[in-house]
Amino acid sequence: HKSQAWSALFSEPMSDLVKRYTSSVGFDKRLWQADIRGSLAHAGMLAAQGIISKQDHADIQRGMAQITQDIESGHFEWKLDLEDVHLNIEARLTQLVGDAGKRLHTGRSRNDQVATDVRLWLRDEIDAIATLLAELQKAMLDLAAKNVDVVMPGFTHLQVAQPVSFAHHMLAYVEMFGRDRERMADVRKRVNRLPLGAAALAGTSYPLDRQAVANALGMEGLCENSLDAVSDRDFAIEFTAAATLAMVHISRLSEELILWMSQNFGFIRIADRFTTGSSIMPQKKNPDVPELARGKTGRVVGHLMGLVTLMKGQPLAYNKDNQEDKEPLFDTVDTLKDTLRIFAEMMAGITVNPQPMEAAARKGYATATDLADYLVKKGLPFRDAHEIVAHAVKEAQGKGVDLSELPLETLKGFHALIENDVYDVLSLQGSMNARMVVGGTAVERVREQIARLRG
Ligand code: ARG
Repeated sequence: HKSQAWSALFSEPMSDLVKRYTSSVGFDKRLWQADIRGSLAHAGMLAAQGIISKQDHADIQRGMAQITQDIESGHFEWKLDLEDVHLNIEARLTQLVGDAGKRLHTGRSRNDQVATDVRLWLRDEIDAIATLLAELQKAMLDLAAKNVDVVMPGFTHLQVAQPVSFAHHMLAYVEMFGRDRERMADVRKRVNRLPLGAAALAGTSYPLDRQAVANALGMEGLCENSLDAVSDRDFAIEFTAAATLAMVHISRLSEELILWMSQNFGFIRIADRFTTGSSIMPQKKNPDVPELARGKTGRVVGHLMGLVTLMKGQPLAYNKDNQEDKEPLFDTVDTLKDTLRIFAEMMAGITVNPQPMEAAARKGYATATDLADYLVKKGLPFRDAHEIVAHAVKEAQGKGVDLSELPLETLKGFHALIENDVYDVLSLQGSMNARMVVGGTAVERVREQIARLRG
């Protein structure tokens, strides 16, 4: 059992079952680039500080270049026996360059190494996610810009409430994804700090220049306490929380898309390439993509709970429990990235059907509030106006017509102050465009918001 990094003390080899149970290389090999980057920064600093020779440094660089090539071309042989990505790469380095490879781990532990690798990897993934969020926002802004004048019923309690611009509804999501971007940018600051130098837990007696390593890796600062450096996974939890919110936003949007494309709404069509058929019912086009996104949100919520629970009982400092941080974190990143990518494409391919939207708004008496506001403007107290309009709605419902279809004499019967100009406020467009307050759904305001968000 020479392959084990600590073998001298052990009187028997690890059992195969334990090997399989404790090994993480099957999934953590995806950290290989971060691992090599971190090692090269560490080695460069060791050489600059005179802890290893310039020749050792050159040998390490040469070996890592070879390993990079081997991994990229799929020729690297990952060994379960070597437990994780870190030991695999180090062992191969030593095989390639001899003693220099064995000197790389001077002043370092896998505890600060793995924390550094995960942070480096996650930092780049956060940047990719921020870009994908921006692309989704752009797709939704384009869809909004094409449909500013389209009136749809806004809902509360999923009951028709008031007419809103379809674009206004889209912009609500653009706001949410904007906050997701802010959260990602904020988490990034705490991800982008350097654990290396903490070594196993207490720091190291070698004269390391931690700041130089941080600079080489483009990190914004150091983890200032060695115990915290190796055992902190807050950054992973925080990231997963931010990812969870982004998925929750996607899930709410999914729920709406699914409703809107059902026959009972008929508000939108999504491009065929995002739907699937049924193996038995020939007429079907199912919204599989939004349904899966809604389902995958549950998975990411689960990862957040998993990570929080992983931390809650851990004493300082590093514990092997933390090896379990990777799969949930990786899957969160994969799920969020795939979902954002597919949504940006899908939103760009949505067709809006204005007729069913308007019909639904009429059927739900979406302009009832406008009639009340009309009476208030003529001097009635709002509560009285509210009551009067309720009677008018009841009458219209009984006749099976919209408020705007009641003749003036009928409307006058509810209050003498009602005149012919009432029909302006009873129209869907009129109602929508009356909501001129900042943040309101009037077309003019919506256009301003689109311009601001495109900024
Ligand atoms: N594979 C381990 C992890 O993912 C690396 C650190 C292991 N350190 C240790 N002392 N066993 O956390």
